[in-house]
Amino acid sequence: MCGIVGYVGNRDAVPVLLQGLRSLEYRGYDSSGVAVHNGANLCVVKRAGRLSALEDALAQREVNGRCGIGHTRWATHGIATDKNAHPFVSSYGKFAVVHNGIVSNYLPIAAFLRERGVSLVSDTDSEVIAHLIDYYYTGDVLSALCRAMSVLKGSFALGVVSVYEPNVIYGVRKDSPLIVGEGNKEFALCSDISGISDFCDRYFPLENDRIVRLAEGGAALFDFTGRTRAFSFQKREREEADDREEGADDMLSEIRQIPASLFLGYESFPSTEVARALNGAKDFLVLGCGSAYHAGLVFCEAMREIAGVHVRAEIASEFLTEKSCITKDTLVIAVSQSGETADTLLAADLAKKSGAKLLAVCNVRASSLTRLADVSLVTRCGRERAVAATKSYVAQVHSLLMICLEYAHISAKITKDQYVFYQRELALLPEKTEEVIRSEPFLEKVALALKDATAVFFLGRKGDYAAAREGSLKLKEVSYLFSEAYPSGELKHGTLALMEGGVYGVIVATDPLLLEKNAATVSEIVCRGASSVVVASESLVSDLPAEYVVAIPDTLPVFSPVLSAIVMQYFAYFAAKARGCDVDKPRNLAKSVTVE
Ligand code: F6R
Repeated sequence: MCGIVGYVGNRDAVPVLLQGLRSLEYRGYDSSGVAVHNGANLCVVKRAGRLSALEDALAQREVNGRCGIGHTRWATHGIATDKNAHPFVSSYGKFAVVHNGIVSNYLPIAAFLRERGVSLVSDTDSEVIAHLIDYYYTGDVLSALCRAMSVLKGSFALGVVSVYEPNVIYGVRKDSPLIVGEGNKEFALCSDISGISDFCDRYFPLENDRIVRLAEGGAALFDFTGRTRAFSFQKREREEADDREEGADDMLSEIRQIPASLFLGYESFPSTEVARALNGAKDFLVLGCGSAYHAGLVFCEAMREIAGVHVRAEIASEFLTEKSCITKDTLVIAVSQSGETADTLLAADLAKKSGAKLLAVCNVRASSLTRLADVSLVTRCGRERAVAATKSYVAQVHSLLMICLEYAHISAKITKDQYVFYQRELALLPEKTEEVIRSEPFLEKVALALKDATAVFFLGRKGDYAAAREGSLKLKEVSYLFSEAYPSGELKHGTLALMEGGVYGVIVATDPLLLEKNAATVSEIVCRGASSVVVASESLVSDLPAEYVVAIPDTLPVFSPVLSAIVMQYFAYFAAKARGCDVDKPRNLAKSVTVE
């Protein structure tokens, strides 16, 4: 999973490509590179490591040209080295290719090419693409691309430049996202609109199995047989403001933005379409990955508690063949910050093809998921740059809670008075998140204790367990501490064996009805020598003695993950900082996972 960008127009290509790559770095930051047509040759510069390494390399060289492609990599095949960085060039530098996705049959293609005398220099699945196009080239680039597409299997998006066509770039899409943008007598390709939004005010998402040819004079679209296809650019809709805090890590500034994003609310919720979708739903299935899946777990608890309805949440990558549980009355809610997560898109597509209606809860208005969905709720929390989901997770939970309330209301699962009561509680949440943010200095202190733990167990019951899962994911993802989430009641059935000195238990306890059980959990781990941190509602803390006690404002237990999540995000952030980790770009990860 990587980010690709391409440019052709009247400006110097390198700064435009670098700008695009800067916004795509969230898709991977193992290496980056560019290939620019300088009028005679393809100049390729690529470097392992962060984009700054490429910028340094480009500063040492004259790379001029008005047409080029660029790449930022998240390694899937081959470690992060210069050799495995994109773009890849064919023999004698005739074609250069950048690739996002996976070529599943690259091994037989590599063998085929080697038998014909081609030497491959990298360990990647991507390099074969450049050589294959070159192999099929007999005087027409488009025909060579079509021939190559008839052989390549997998899911991918490509950017291609060739020495034969000085001011032309090609984009190819087969199952991985690619946006075509138009500016002022200039065109661009990009894995998402953010990388080219500065100068492209018109765009269209490339459909599957299409090739786009972009030259200074215009754009042309083809299918994989080379037949011309119609297309039209659409005006780009405005995304939410990018309110980055100067000088702060993105993760920290995004946590601090949570109250503002909740205060901003949602455009006309529930829209007629959302209300209609909820009204027609007989059952629900939530799909998502990572934090988005955890938001779905909170929704399940809320639906059980408030509407008395059992809802399933599935990890999208596990939802592979289970069409049988879908009917035309199923409302599938696909949750995704980026709207580009391959596992979520595939699962949502499968569910839709099985007859379900698809509601997207997504933070990017113009994304693959919102295009696939019948109806979308855009979370509007602004661009999230740090790899770890923080404000987007809270916005997802908040919007799913609103969906739950609307459903309970529309389908008469609650009375009018109950609806008003829940609404009022929900409306108080943004203010309460401000209170949590104000406790930042104390949360930093607790995090400094956690940073030396040998393992951290996040424990809770029901909605608190859903929140604990998210807390654990956040900590391990950015601080690399070993961490696991566990339902408190299950501890004694095995995992309690791991409690000893050096281990921390973080017990999330927001439900007054479970107070005694939660107090018992704290005692169980403390008397085995483990240290304890309690994250509890204000009115419960006095009954939950622990080494560190974090009070969050009282709210309904099913709403409390909105608040407890922030506490655990701070734990993760400050523990990671204290351990010297790169909080915004944790090792081995990328913000948007566009491969299966
Ligand atoms: C964790 C995190 C990931 C994402 C997951 C889904 O902090 O960010 O677990 O939640 O990769 O991404 P989206 O929401 O873009 O589909």
